[in-house]
Amino acid sequence: MVTSSAPGKVYLFGEHAVVYGEPAVPCAIERRARVTVEERDDDRIRVHAEDLSLDGFTVEYSSDSAATPDVDVSESVVEAGMRYVDAAVAQARDAADAPNAGFDVVIQSEIPLGAGLGSSAAVVTAAIDAATRELGVELSTAKVADRGYRAEHDAQNGDASRADTFCSATGGAVRVEGDDCRSIEAPDLPLVIGFDGSAGDTGELVSGVRQLREEYDFAADTVETVGDLVRSGEQALAAGDLDELGKLMNFNHGLLAALGVSSRSLDGMVWAARDANALGAKLTGAGGGGCIVALDPTDETQTALEFTPGCEDAFRAELDTEGVRVEDE
Ligand code: PMV
Repeated sequence: MVTSSAPGKVYLFGEHAVVYGEPAVPCAIERRARVTVEERDDDRIRVHAEDLSLDGFTVEYSSDSAATPDVDVSESVVEAGMRYVDAAVAQARDAADAPNAGFDVVIQSEIPLGAGLGSSAAVVTAAIDAATRELGVELSTAKVADRGYRAEHDAQNGDASRADTFCSATGGAVRVEGDDCRSIEAPDLPLVIGFDGSAGDTGELVSGVRQLREEYDFAADTVETVGDLVRSGEQALAAGDLDELGKLMNFNHGLLAALGVSSRSLDGMVWAARDANALGAKLTGAGGGGCIVALDPTDETQTALEFTPGCEDAFRAELDTEGVRVEDE
C-alpha cells in the first residue's frame, strides 16, 4: 500500500490562454490531495473518495463493466471524478507494463472539486505516483508530470494544458508555455482565496472560449493580450513587486470576464476583495464558479469575503514549495 499526495494550485495569471500556447503562471498551495493505492489480486478498480465538497462515495468496477455508482452525490460529479481516476490508472498500468493490474484507491482531498484549485491535477498526479510505486516503479517528477498531463488530456477530451499537472508534480511557482514547463522564483505571496461553493465545468468553459475565439478576431486578440500580461506578470514576480502583480491580476480578471468565464459570485468576491483594498484579485482556473484568488498582506480581504453573499469559504493559502511526495509506504 502506498500513499502519495500532491498540492492544488492557483493561477496567478494565464488560465484559458495557456490552452492556445500563451504562457501561464500557476502556483502550488498548501492544500493537498492524498491518494492511497493498494494492488488487488484481480483486475478490478475500487475507488473510495472523500472530499471537502462531497459526502464521500465508493465505486467498484472492472475494466469490462461500466461503473454503476450507488451514491448520494450527483452522478456527473462521480462520473467526472471517475474519468480522472481511470485515466490515471491507465497511465500507471502503462508505465509499469501491467495492463491488468487492479487497485483499491482511496482519495482524500482538501481541495474543493472543480473549483479552480487544481483538484483533478492533484488527484491524478498523486494517483499515478502511488499506483506506479505500488507496482514497483519509481517515476521521476518530470515523468509523473508528463503522465499526469496525458491522463488529464484523455479525461478532458484533448483540451488540457500541462500547467496544472506540472505545478502539482513540482510544487512552487511555475511557468508553462506549450510543452515548455519550468519552475520560477516567487516571493512570499499573501494569497487569500474565496470559494463560492460551486464548481465550473472546465470542458464546457474551455470550449466556450474556443468558440468565441473562432467567431471574433477580437476574442483571439484578447487571448493574445493575456499572454502579454503574463509576460509582464513574470517580471513583477521576479522583482517581488506585489503592487504591480495585483494590478496585473485585476487586468487578467477583466480579460477573463470578457471571455465569458466569470460569474456573478466570482465577480462579487473579486469586488469585495478590491473594496477591502486587496492589491489585486481574479478568478482562478476555468471559472464559471469556484474560487477567486486575491493578494492581501492584511486580514481585510479575508474578513470582507467572509461577509460577502455568495462566498462560502475564505481562507489564506501559503505557497507550497513541495510537489508530489510519498506520505508513507
Ligand atoms: O479549473 P482548473 O483548475 O481545472 O483549471 C483549468 C485551466 C484551463 O486553462 C482553463 C484549462 C487547462 O487545462 O489549462
